Amino acid sequence: MTFFRGRRLRKTQSLRDIVQETWLRPEDLVQPYFVVETSDKNFSKEITSMPGQFQLSLFKLEEKVTKAVDNGLKSVILFGIPEKKDEIASEAYNPKGIVQQAVHKLKRKFPDLVVITDVCLCEYTSHGHCGIIEDRHVQNDPTLKLLAKTALSHVKAGADIVAPSDMMDGRVKAIREILDKHGFIETPIMSYAVKYASSFYGPFREAAESTPQFGDRKSYQMNPANSNEAILEAKADFTEGADIIMVKPALPYLDILQRLKDSLFCPLAAYQVSGEYAQIKAASLNGWIDEKNVVLESLISIKRAGANLIISYFTEQVLKWL
Ligand code: PBG
Repeated sequence: MTFFRGRRLRKTQSLRDIVQETWLRPEDLVQPYFVVETSDKNFSKEITSMPGQFQLSLFKLEEKVTKAVDNGLKSVILFGIPEKKDEIASEAYNPKGIVQQAVHKLKRKFPDLVVITDVCLCEYTSHGHCGIIEDRHVQNDPTLKLLAKTALSHVKAGADIVAPSDMMDGRVKAIREILDKHGFIETPIMSYAVKYASSFYGPFREAAESTPQFGDRKSYQMNPANSNEAILEAKADFTEGADIIMVKPALPYLDILQRLKDSLFCPLAAYQVSGEYAQIKAASLNGWIDEKNVVLESLISIKRAGANLIISYFTEQVLKWL
């Protein structure tokens, strides 16, 4: 009988293992953290829509990262929540700002930990938009200077990689130029090049306190219906100097990841966003799905589609499972 017997190589775990195409390693995962500027040293507040994720004081952040590093954590991405917000996001580029302090603290304690910073203004502006507002519209070019200043302040504090997530045109070029000018020619940029205007960011906006006070982000983030535009965005950012290109969200956009893998040859990252986390958490807390297996399946799928690196709120947990 000569029909295809796919089951031959599925018979035992050992056979399945030797033909497995994709693996998940601790090096593939990045844990996001939300660090809050507060005088309460022991501040730790669970995010309602993201059970298991917290807003943390500097001190609590260090405690949490210490445990995770013991479990094999290799990389983090930091988001800051400042005490004061204003129209021009002053705290985003304050050299003594909360993220700058967190970077400094973590790098001093864990020199080998890869510390990535999210470069955006929305957590720091009173209106919650990712740039400067004039006539109720986010102004692209005036925002570039502030983003560049923000990235530089993160790198001066010791950040290993900066990750602009604002979706202003030309920001990778602006950041590359300012870093080079200050001698940081070797600091990589991981660009959120392909960032969709997604409703899956809802829980993050609770966590980062960054919900826009009016309108939405559709004039700068991408239309979920588009795919060719993703290639244009990714190529533009790569040409401007991005070293790693990110797609965000992850699971609903695996087609985009795969297209990018086939058309760009730089490392690709994917962000399994807050809404993706919340969905899995909610269903598993209800006992409707098996959390561990669903998480591992979703992450391996993101890798299979083409991501080299995955930012996931499940990272800390997955490290215990691997
Ligand atoms: C900042 C930023 C956002 C996320 C990462 N960086 C929010 C947004 O664009 O509104 C979302 C991450 C998540 O949902 O987990 N611009």
